Amino acid sequence: MDARAFIRRKRDGKRHDPGDIRAFIAAHLGGAVPDYQVSAWLMAAFIEGLDDAETTELTRALIESGRTFDWTPLGRPSADKHSTGGVGDKISLVLAPVVAACGVLVPMVSGRGLGHTGGTLDKFESIPGFRTRLEPDAMRDQLDRLGVIMAGQSADLAPGDGSLYALRDVTSTVESQPLIVASIVSKKIAEGAGSLVYDVKCGSGAFMKTPAEARSLATRLVEVTRGSGPRAAALITDMNQPLGSAVGNALEVQESIDVLQGGGPDDVRELTLELAAIMLQLATGADSGAARRQAEAVIESGKAWERFVALVRAQGGSVAAVEKPGELPRAPVVAPVKATHTGFVTAMDTFALGECVVHMGGGRVEKTQPIDARVGLMMRARLGDPVRAGDVLAEAHLARSDEVLMSRLQAAITIGDSPPALPPLVLERID
Ligand code: URA
Repeated sequence: MDARAFIRRKRDGKRHDPGDIRAFIAAHLGGAVPDYQVSAWLMAAFIEGLDDAETTELTRALIESGRTFDWTPLGRPSADKHSTGGVGDKISLVLAPVVAACGVLVPMVSGRGLGHTGGTLDKFESIPGFRTRLEPDAMRDQLDRLGVIMAGQSADLAPGDGSLYALRDVTSTVESQPLIVASIVSKKIAEGAGSLVYDVKCGSGAFMKTPAEARSLATRLVEVTRGSGPRAAALITDMNQPLGSAVGNALEVQESIDVLQGGGPDDVRELTLELAAIMLQLATGADSGAARRQAEAVIESGKAWERFVALVRAQGGSVAAVEKPGELPRAPVVAPVKATHTGFVTAMDTFALGECVVHMGGGRVEKTQPIDARVGLMMRARLGDPVRAGDVLAEAHLARSDEVLMSRLQAAITIGDSPPALPPLVLERID
């Protein structure tokens, strides 16, 4: 494999020959192509694009970089969901135990923070002791016993995606439809769920900024997934403001606990129930009303919360940290972001809010950087809210005071004279 010639071909806007993408990924994982050459190719692919055949070849190469799991011997239907990435998107933490408590297996394989967005694995790892690396035998036993696992890419599971994902995170090569499709579909096919639901985020805090871009990504995700076997559907959902109030790893775990215990923000609960209903519908054939009622019932009865605690225990996490309020990691400095004048919250630069959390230490600017689980934001105002000068719009949870960051946060929230038109939470369903 001549990596320089391979990169040059994409840099010059040409199609790769069949087999070359596979060879490049294999050479990288074998140690013959270093990170810097993969990063250069990712940027060339980001700028020049990959056509459908190249995207399919990359997806297959990433799937085949590890093994593909098959849970049919466990004798129960299985389903999973994956988000394309948002700010404050903690849905997986709530959804996985909800669907497992409804009797459907959830072999969830998630990612870490990507670009300005948070990642489910980083959120779970803010629970002291929680392990997201599971051996295949442990995955099987836990899935059989608890109905849910929470794992990341590993040497067994889409290692090619694990490597490309970590490089894309820190090289500004995330917002590319072919790279997103290959990344998401590869790990979802490898994990072996029989039904897959995609939550395609759209708006200022999403990788897809417009409904047209989100629709195109959702359609591609559903088509490529079905081409590999599983049932699939997608929702396009609003990301013009953070989902819920909490943004940042430990803060989002606490908010997820609130929702599992029957409280928490309405939008987080609502989107969880919508996605749970589709997962149950696809996996069991239940009608959507009955599926939604089933998901509501396991939250009301406490069964979903019990399943979450069992998941934390099974993966080595501190049960005390999730059961006792105030035990999760907490930032030493909490500073208010205040409204400078009276009016309505008309817009949020949700990308900028996510970037601020990355710069607080809640995400990575370098590949091996450790995460500060404590930092983040608690949003105290939502789009359309009337506010008076001096009202608190958000609280920044910081490792240390930072005036520059505080002014970036303030600039990310726009106050105008009249209330804005608010988009619905769910914009569209793609089947
Ligand atoms: N989630 C992923 O797993 N990969 C992407 O590229 C984007 C979101």
